[in-house]
Amino acid sequence: MTQPFSLTPDQHAANRLLGGAATHILLRGGARSGKTFVLVRALVIRALRATGTRHGIFRHRFNALRATIVVDTFPTVMRRCFPSVPWQLSRTDWSVTLPNGSLIMFGGLDDEERTEKILGLEFATVYLNEASQVAYGARNMLLTRLAQKSPLALKEYIDANPPTTAH
Ligand SMILES: Nc1ncnc2c1ncn2[C@@H]1O[C@H](COP(=O)(O)OP(=O)(O)O)[C@@H](O)[C@H]1O
Ligand SMILES: [Mg+2]
Repeated sequence: MTQPFSLTPDQHAANRLLGGAATHILLRGGARSGKTFVLVRALVIRALRATGTRHGIFRHRFNALRATIVVDTFPTVMRRCFPSVPWQLSRTDWSVTLPNGSLIMFGGLDDEERTEKILGLEFATVYLNEASQVAYGARNMLLTRLAQKSPLALKEYIDANPPTTAH
């Protein structure tokens, strides 16, 4: 038996922020405090709420994104929070299509070909994971893609672990 799922108090506080009017939302906090989990969960809720919408999860290096969110956080969120929603990951274009046709795309900003592809799309949500590693120019480029017309308000999510003293 799996444990019943519940959000932590910090995650409840984050959700109040995510449900508010702000377009750009930054979560900061210690490593393993549940930032990535609560942002992925909120992104999936948005994707399920509006059919045919596009939601991007980005990180500086694609390999790091794949080793964390793609193989761990995303499947865990789906299993714990949305057990009745079927999904499948395409390893050709690193995206997940939900039953309502909404798309969740995983992208690294270190790959020119992928970045070109991203530039041709419009998103309802853009989520920058581990933003301290992402160049400001790359972030601004992504923001120009936060433009999909849908019933959803556009949202930029950002998370950042406390930077090292050298940052
Ligand atoms: N509400 C929760 N219930 C159970 N496990 C959780 C919850 N939130 C996060 N986790 C787990 O805790 C770990 C750290 O969460 P994560 O979101 O990766 O933290 P952060 O991004 O702040 O470093 C992960 O293994 C994640 O699956
Ligand atoms: Mg994280």
